[in-house]
Amino acid sequence: MQRMSLSNSSTYLVTGGAGFMGSAFVQYKLEQEAFKGSIVILDLLKHELCKERLKLLTEDTRVQFVQGDIGDRTLLQKLGSQYSFDYVVHFAAETHVDKSIHEPELFVVENVEKTVTLLQVVKGWSQCHFHHISTDEVFGSIKSGAFLETDAYEPNSPYSASKAASDHMVRAFGKTYGLSYTISHACNNIGPFQYPEKLVPLMLKRMLAEEPLPVYGNGQQIREWLDIADHAQGVDLVLEKGERGACYNIGSGQERANLDLIKMLGALLEKKGLIKVGACEKLITFVTDRPGHDFRYRLDSSKLESLGFKPRYSLKQSLERVIKQYNEAEAVPDQAYETWIKKQYSTKIGVTS
Ligand code: TYD
Repeated sequence: MQRMSLSNSSTYLVTGGAGFMGSAFVQYKLEQEAFKGSIVILDLLKHELCKERLKLLTEDTRVQFVQGDIGDRTLLQKLGSQYSFDYVVHFAAETHVDKSIHEPELFVVENVEKTVTLLQVVKGWSQCHFHHISTDEVFGSIKSGAFLETDAYEPNSPYSASKAASDHMVRAFGKTYGLSYTISHACNNIGPFQYPEKLVPLMLKRMLAEEPLPVYGNGQQIREWLDIADHAQGVDLVLEKGERGACYNIGSGQERANLDLIKMLGALLEKKGLIKVGACEKLITFVTDRPGHDFRYRLDSSKLESLGFKPRYSLKQSLERVIKQYNEAEAVPDQAYETWIKKQYSTKIGVTS
């Protein structure tokens, strides 16, 4: 199999580059002093937080920002004639499982149809390599042991099914049109500037506001947590040393039951004097379980480890990073978050704020 080689003067198109994961990847590249190439961020800026993340990235002259949609074929073609991309790193996606339960069609449009539009254009860019960001969730739930890259897909939510479909499309473009591609499956990411709808920022925000903490079911579901910067390291490594046409798992090995993770976060906040002693325990509220809730995700990442992958952050350090950013950042009014909280939790725990 052919391996890729990374030149420090490469040109990247990063879709969703102002998003949680995409911006961390751009940040990771910019921190490499030897990197003299350029990065074009293509992002719709759907969320207020994207603007915050973007501010930190666009100060660097190696970054160009284009506001737009990956489903806009004309825009993509224009970008292709303006820049000669060496890599497309495709992060742009709808990623929230609960949202996908309310609006499955949206996930087909955003994650499947638009990925196909992007692939249709990129397949015409000679010499360009396509990296697709996927998830551990395409494999479904695993009671014990860990998923290998070669395991069968068994997605259980509209979100994971949409990601599985887009993975298959990438592979099909490789086989049918000769597109050079790689795919990475990451476990749950944790880090600064995550959307407040996801478990960690949601619980953090609500603990600080002394609001009930909605724990789905019995809270014993298990997730593997990877720092966002370590995810970026893994993606960069796949681009640098990965085999074309191959898939790589990016996991940390750090598993926690949801309830334990929430208590760990609470203990850190208590220690810092940010919440009262015992406040977290009191706020924990068990609510109706998520339909089709996957019990456990766990990846076997030995394939990427054999290329040199080694996560730098422990779960505790990642939680500390999240708390620090949240404390330092100015509160950004987020109407979408308020609307979501009412829609998702009002019948569960009578949440009105
Ligand atoms: P989430 O951050 O939505 O990620 P994913 O579903 O992709 O793993 O949720 C992480 C875990 O936390 C998942 O098992 C669902 C659970 N969870 C709750 O218990 N309560 C909540 O309010 C949320 C958002 C998630």
